[in-house]
Amino acid sequence: MKKIEDYLARSENQYLKLYDESIKHPEKFWTNIAETFVWKKRWDKVLNFDFDKPEFKWFINGKLNITENCLDRHLSTNPDKTAILFEPNDPNSKSEKISYKQLHSRVCRFANVLKSKNVGKGDRVCIYMPMVPELTVAVLACARIGAVHSVVFAGFSSSALSARINDANCKVLLTADGSYRGSKVIDLISIANDALLECNSIESTIILKRINSNIKLKDNQTWWHDEIAMVSNECEAEEMDSEDMLFILYTSGSTGKPKGMVHTCGGYMIYTAYTFLNVFQYKPNDIYWCTADIGWITGHSYIVYGPLLSGATSVMFEGVPSYPDFSRFWKIVEKHKITHFYTAPTAIRALAKHPVSLVENNDLSSLKVLGSVGEPINEEAWNWYDKNIGKSKCPIVDTWWQTETGGIMLSSLAGVTKDKPTFATVPMIGIQPILLDKDGKEIFENDSEGILAIKFPWPSIARTIYGDHHRYKNVYFSAYPGYYFPGDGALTDINGNFRITGRVDDVVIVSGHNLGTAPIEDAINLHENVVESAVVGYPHDIKGNALRAFVILLNDKLDLDMQKEIKDLISKTIGPIAKPDIIQIVPGLPKTRSGKIMRRILRKIASGEKENFGDISTLLNPEIVDQILLNS
Ligand code: PRX
Repeated sequence: MKKIEDYLARSENQYLKLYDESIKHPEKFWTNIAETFVWKKRWDKVLNFDFDKPEFKWFINGKLNITENCLDRHLSTNPDKTAILFEPNDPNSKSEKISYKQLHSRVCRFANVLKSKNVGKGDRVCIYMPMVPELTVAVLACARIGAVHSVVFAGFSSSALSARINDANCKVLLTADGSYRGSKVIDLISIANDALLECNSIESTIILKRINSNIKLKDNQTWWHDEIAMVSNECEAEEMDSEDMLFILYTSGSTGKPKGMVHTCGGYMIYTAYTFLNVFQYKPNDIYWCTADIGWITGHSYIVYGPLLSGATSVMFEGVPSYPDFSRFWKIVEKHKITHFYTAPTAIRALAKHPVSLVENNDLSSLKVLGSVGEPINEEAWNWYDKNIGKSKCPIVDTWWQTETGGIMLSSLAGVTKDKPTFATVPMIGIQPILLDKDGKEIFENDSEGILAIKFPWPSIARTIYGDHHRYKNVYFSAYPGYYFPGDGALTDINGNFRITGRVDDVVIVSGHNLGTAPIEDAINLHENVVESAVVGYPHDIKGNALRAFVILLNDKLDLDMQKEIKDLISKTIGPIAKPDIIQIVPGLPKTRSGKIMRRILRKIASGEKENFGDISTLLNPEIVDQILLNS
């Protein structure tokens, strides 16, 4: 059997050579990578694609089960190696090491629980759980039996949860009685129960006892521990087609309801594993920690699948960086001798605000590689990270990618290709990024700025939006036909390194969370005293971007109660992360003659600009700009 190690780039020259091969002969290249995995049946053809439909199929008619590659495969070589190293919220609670053998057994056992609830191939299972090992077990148990997991971040509100359950028609909900987050205890089960009032498709709910509560179970609700006591820990892995659905993960769009991005088995498997090993240059005894939540794509691809496919030790942390104080991350690094640390710029900026002694009191000498993900990292944060955490000896991989791309698309390879502050730098092997000008023409010169697009498919591209292929086509393939359009702007330096300049649509990245402004406006407009609203992002020291809402009221008074009511509405409909920092009442909104809000102007006002609003002659009500400025 071929070994994936033989296709990893260990030097810049190897990267260039592999990149060249992957572009000139993509099918041959990805065949080599795919052959390093366990398949139940070999594929007939590597790739079929059509950007117009759009349709992408990888390893056609290949059969596999991703969990055999994440678990079973390692049992003959390394059964006792720690797969998951769990660090609980409370620093005085014991951490837990789960070996590959133990994880395999727990996954198989829970897979049997799901089967006992009548869950089979293709059924959707919603997972709304804290960051505890059972969450990983739940995800892999679904994959084991071919059920489609839809993980919903446990910070989302009941309405956000029910909307996602209903969109995917989930059959089973997996949740917990509560969760610990820093000094807070979150009443997860009440949120889930509220959501369930709106959901008809859920037949059973299985509840993990995490906070030892004495809640009364409702009809069709059972305890996790009772369920696993009744089944065996042996479960054959279901045979899946390479293009069968593996999971749905929701992400915000600039308009309308969240988009359930669909990822499939074969391509996602090989791409997450290959990028994990290449980007992080993980070696067998390394301890890798990605601080994301499994509720986001980063957790799916680079806490669960990428690392486990690679036989790595992946750390799962239940808590927050500020509890019991702002040295928690560094204490964990010292305690577990972390070698790879992958986090978000917003966390770095928040930590950098605190005395550096909180870092220096800990031994960080185990660290070899640092990573950044989720939003552009500014130079100051990059330098702080490099100097204080990496001690100027750890490469920093700034990884640009998306829920939709499934895996990392642009990044340096740690210690192999050069990093550069604020630049994601180079494309992954097999990825063909290009800058387009506003007319959609390719810009071939380096040192340019434009719209980022990808001109050839890669194995882990999301295949559709669940239940709405039309929207999938519209959002990602219509603005620039023949390309995948991610919605980001970018520039290149004279050497062709890429730097992401930010979103070019109405999605705002707040503390690394992707938020569409339209759903927030819809939530604000639910308030009986609100006539209309517009939400925009503006630069923020720690969060990267913060939100400002411009609101037209029925009667002109915005007192503190009403501010709170509006924020509560947003928390209830979306979640606390979507609350604006500033709510400003305005007599009107700048609108074009066709009635479209000119957000460009609001964005400038929110960023503190007082003039230079460009051409406002197409506004129906140009006088409104001065009126808004007067009160801002
Ligand atoms: O705007 C880009 C930003 O996050 C968006 C994707 O968000 P999401 O689907 O939630 O996935 C986040 C984790 C992969 C992108 O369109 N983004 C992500 N990583 C970076 C980034 N912006 C700049 N630099 C990055 N490294």
